[in-house]
Amino acid sequence: MSKDTLTITDNRTGRTYEIPIEHDTIQAMALRQIKVNEDDFGMMSYDPAFKNTASTKSTITYIDGDKGILRYRGYPIEQLAEKSNYLETAYLILYGELPTKEQYDEWEYVILHHTFVHENITQLMKGFRHDAHPMGMFIATLAAMSTYYPEGREISDPDKRIKQIHRLIAKLPTVAAFSYRHNRGLPYVYPDNDLSYTGNFLSMLDKMSEAKYKPDPVLERALDVLFILHADHEQNCGTATMRVIGSSHTDPYTAMAGAAAALYGPLHGGANEAVLRMLMEIGDVKNVPDFVKAVKNRERLLMGFGHRVYKNYDPRARIIKQVADEVFEVTGKNPLLAIALELERIALEDDFFVERNLYPNVDFYSGIIYQAMRFPIAMFPVLFAIPRTIGWLSQWVEMLEDSEQKIARPRQIYLGEGERDFVPMDKR
Ligand code: SDX
Repeated sequence: MSKDTLTITDNRTGRTYEIPIEHDTIQAMALRQIKVNEDDFGMMSYDPAFKNTASTKSTITYIDGDKGILRYRGYPIEQLAEKSNYLETAYLILYGELPTKEQYDEWEYVILHHTFVHENITQLMKGFRHDAHPMGMFIATLAAMSTYYPEGREISDPDKRIKQIHRLIAKLPTVAAFSYRHNRGLPYVYPDNDLSYTGNFLSMLDKMSEAKYKPDPVLERALDVLFILHADHEQNCGTATMRVIGSSHTDPYTAMAGAAAALYGPLHGGANEAVLRMLMEIGDVKNVPDFVKAVKNRERLLMGFGHRVYKNYDPRARIIKQVADEVFEVTGKNPLLAIALELERIALEDDFFVERNLYPNVDFYSGIIYQAMRFPIAMFPVLFAIPRTIGWLSQWVEMLEDSEQKIARPRQIYLGEGERDFVPMDKR
């Protein structure tokens, strides 16, 4: 009769150990009993970049990388992108269930009425250089927000926690829009609480002298769908950072500044910006073969391709391509699309990419849409961070409420010098 255990024989001692298997996983701490001498520390697992290490149990997001499946709380991303909106999906990700009409109306009202930031924050933002990268402004302002809401440090109080969550979801589009207006030397536009979540964001970005901004409904919906697609993605680099920083029990503003900092990297959420710069550098479809050759020679990365988990087409990239067509109806086609499509065509049939399971990820096409919507390239990581706010916060709450979690503190394999005595300067 098969048992849910792993039997390990340590050939150094001949001893065997029976280790329980749960969820097709073993507890790393179960390895510590494996020793040669009684006073040994015991065995550890070694996993740089956590390629094969589960750091948590979670009920929020499910990804099947081989099948290209993504579900938030069990709902397929394709259905949410088609039938839901960002605020409804945010409620689902945080609370685990789709809201009733009454729950949704209350949630939407609270979020849409917390959109203003303290006036001092606009002064703080005006201190940045005019050409400061908006993601740098976003991260710095996010961290500074912790000084405006000191009650955020009371992380064990659910009522205090949800107030910070409302504030962060509501105010970060405002901070993002202010950074955009700052870069353009334009006055900051204050929130218009009559508009939808994405309609208000577009108003704060683009409103000029008109009395009331009217968002284009196609662009308003396209942004909403893009926000749904970026809302959460289980234990990605940014979310893992949120959990690690949050595990020391700091406030959510400070933890999220760290998560956003991780997202900013070109290997992560900063890839959407890097994709556009790559496409602009390639410049013309006729230059694609030379660029692909440089990638295969390991001189360049094909930004927007590859994924630690997806070894198939990122389901979000598939949906984004559909959204692109709708946006281009309004904005006109982005000429860089032809280069992107040619890169994808080649990559999907070339052994170098096929053997490495390199497919377009969420960042490959999103930037093409954002550029067509006239967002500056530097804004793209900020457009990733805004919707990911709910993912970071929901995973943070799950970590705080998980009795198996403690402050994160990995071990190491020390390969440095043994003990040695200090050498005076004149003897070195
Ligand atoms: C996001 O984790 C998440 O869920 C993230 C995210 C989210 O929603 O939060 O999905 C968002 O970050 C998407 C990824 C955006 N990043 C990029 O598009 C940057 C380009 N991609 C690569 O840097 C890379 O694919 C990563 C970082 C995404 C994944 O890297 P891995 O899992 O560490 O894979 P790897 O580096 O071990 O690559 C395996 C092989 C290597 O070749 P070999 O040494 O085995 O011969 O594939 C090659 C790599 O050199 N490779 C690439 C490549 N990605 C991997 N070669 C060329 N171009 C690439 N993009």
